Amino acid sequence: MSAWDLRQHWASHWTLDPEVHFLNHGSFGAVPSEVLEVQQDFRDRLEREPVDFILRHVPELWEAARHALAEFVQADPAGLVFVSNATDGVNAVLRSLDFEPGDEIVYTNHGYNACNNVVDYVARRSGARSVVARIPFPLSSAEEAWAGLQAVLSERTRLVLLDHITSPTGLVFPIEDWVPKLQARGIRVLVDGAHSPGMLPLDLRGLNADYFVANGHKWLCAPKSVGFLYVHPEHRDEVWPAVISHGANTPRPGSPRLHDQFDWAGTIDPTPALCLPACIQVLGDMVAGGWPAIYDRNSTLALRGRELLCAALSVPEPAPGAMIGTLAAVPLPPAPADHEPSAFTPDPLHTRLFEDHRIEIPVFHYPGEPSRLIRLSAHLHNRLEDYEALATALKISS
Ligand SMILES: Cc1ncc(COP(=O)(O)O)c(C=O)c1O
Repeated sequence: MSAWDLRQHWASHWTLDPEVHFLNHGSFGAVPSEVLEVQQDFRDRLEREPVDFILRHVPELWEAARHALAEFVQADPAGLVFVSNATDGVNAVLRSLDFEPGDEIVYTNHGYNACNNVVDYVARRSGARSVVARIPFPLSSAEEAWAGLQAVLSERTRLVLLDHITSPTGLVFPIEDWVPKLQARGIRVLVDGAHSPGMLPLDLRGLNADYFVANGHKWLCAPKSVGFLYVHPEHRDEVWPAVISHGANTPRPGSPRLHDQFDWAGTIDPTPALCLPACIQVLGDMVAGGWPAIYDRNSTLALRGRELLCAALSVPEPAPGAMIGTLAAVPLPPAPADHEPSAFTPDPLHTRLFEDHRIEIPVFHYPGEPSRLIRLSAHLHNRLEDYEALATALKISS
């Protein structure tokens, strides 16, 4: 039994539309007003004297943001660089590697489409092969998931793109257990931790993955768009940004090569990255008990929301509670036959829930059986009433 009163919420810290039950924090995050104010302040300084701000002030603020983030995710700042988003980070890593014809690069059927596409692209250009590991959903245990991944590993497997928290199915894979097992077979691991920071505690030094890519603009609630890439010490001289820029021939005295390569990716808006220290502080101060309490409260709410959702749909819970963070997906019956699923065509139920009930929640086409999933999110702006509204709407809509 949770100690949390799940009707308590912190929505007044966000500018989200109070008329909408916003159950899709997972896609693009949402930024608290205190952080928006910090960003506005940076933007005002930037636009007052762009050259002065970018050349004389950003470098120090950038380092401060890097160090604050490194402390939060327990990483060595020398191996940590900002990227625009997780897709950018996955591109940087995969396009830096030289694959040979016949090499195999593995991702799972729970992987994120854009990142899987990067694997397919890199494989196609080098003569390597993309291999998709089939992990069932519904899933009975982490062991069942590992069995699905292990089944496709071979002597030719060079790299596994491994989601920490899966996008369509909202599962937390036990990467602390899997990364060393893969590395022991001589396989490099690129962790797609797009959802990890702010959803659960991270210890990237301890994890020791070859590469870890993540977003700041999801559960850390940073302005869009900022992500990061953390590189193992052994690979720091081999990784190139997706956008080659001044750093390629302009080393800075005392600066690690990795930082030189990534710190100036052409002219970008630096303010989302500069806001990261504020995000860590503002959210951490919002709830008594700080970040550990946020992780606990949000995952308790996601589990309770999932219970309500499963009861409304009369389906069993599709994965162990221990594999749920703050996202949870539940199977739905197949979409109407006249619906052609694509990343750009919303499912009719998605549209109906929004238009008729003011509930924002994603309904995904899933390549397998079940073929359709609904995925809820839980952050501090959510409360139990949001999921009760969803349960009621689903009983009406189905
Ligand atoms: C697992 C996973 N990886 C990568 C991404 C891509 O994130 P972005 O669009 O910020 O690059 C997402 C986005 O939802 C995701 O869920």
